[in-house]
Amino acid sequence: MWQPQGFYSKYLLKQPTLLFGENSVRGLYNFPASRVAVVHGKGLSEDQHSVIKKSIKAFELKFISKSWDKEPVLQEIFGTIEELERFKPDLIVAVGGGSVIDGTKIARLLYEFPFFDFKNQKISSLEWKTKFIAFPTTIGSGAEISSSAVLLNRDKKSKEFIVSNELIPDVIILDPICITTSPKKIIYSSAIDAISHIIEGYTSVVDNIIADVYAEKGLNIFYNSFLHGERPFTSTDLNRLQLAGYFGGIVQNHCIVGVAHAIAHQLAGYGFIHSEAIALILKSVILVNSKDRKIECKYEKLAENSGIDSLSGIIELIDNINCQIELKEQKDKLKLIMPKLINSSEFLLNVKKDAGGKGNPIPITDEYIIEILNGVL
Ligand SMILES: [Fe+2]
Repeated sequence: MWQPQGFYSKYLLKQPTLLFGENSVRGLYNFPASRVAVVHGKGLSEDQHSVIKKSIKAFELKFISKSWDKEPVLQEIFGTIEELERFKPDLIVAVGGGSVIDGTKIARLLYEFPFFDFKNQKISSLEWKTKFIAFPTTIGSGAEISSSAVLLNRDKKSKEFIVSNELIPDVIILDPICITTSPKKIIYSSAIDAISHIIEGYTSVVDNIIADVYAEKGLNIFYNSFLHGERPFTSTDLNRLQLAGYFGGIVQNHCIVGVAHAIAHQLAGYGFIHSEAIALILKSVILVNSKDRKIECKYEKLAENSGIDSLSGIIELIDNINCQIELKEQKDKLKLIMPKLINSSEFLLNVKKDAGGKGNPIPITDEYIIEILNGVL
């Protein structure tokens, strides 16, 4: 532990304003601004566009389609920054999945602080001129409550982090309106990402009883929602899943995650979507970690306090969700590149250095990474 827990508890207990529930997007009306920029992903439907437009009170409103493709890449974010510079908003709203929210955090940072030095990240005392609202359209990334923004470095085939509590939005909207039409695969894969935030955060080296409460309630909601495989979700169900994902985000942000994320972040450089990479790896991580009796007990405690019979119930939950995601293609792809990965000292080093894996309860060694990867196939 490198800081007193009390310092971090400030951020655990002092949450952004949360607009939660069906039609909560209408609450945007209570946050008037002069010039509002809505940065969104490619999938914004006309209905969503219209509801957001009706809910915002502003003299000028501009919708900006993000300039980066999938994961935010620094060179591709500048298109959005230029649009922000031309429009000069005083409120920025990010509408989309984790990559839209993260990319918008960085676009806002460079819009306000163009000389920001990524190698010398002293942003703990930034005085923002803009307000920032996150409106996630997936249930599990946790980006809306995260103190970090993740960038993909294509040249190094790895992910890089900007970290500051100043990046947490002022307002978060959890309204099911943006996920009622989401494809099944997106719902299930983002859920497994959120579950990984809960499980890796709970067993992290950063131990915090407040975060544990969020983890246990979050997993309880996922378990009750997904235990029986595929089912139709009502708006109320989806909204509960959004809240469970948000709880997972709080746990991830406070406790830091582990090796599943460290590996998934590096697999992004090989074209793997974050949540699908997590879905591939998570079970293997749990099985390898459970060889350590102390960590196995922690998993058991999480299961018990989340209303699940035992660790095998958690594994069953992961299996059920993975069945719905259909990971065959990704598994085949991983199999194909596996010899390259386990023989690449750069890949292994990047996993060991990854900021997302710093909470792992076991020291990350080459052998440990290889054992986990072998367990996937
Ligand atoms: Fe994640």
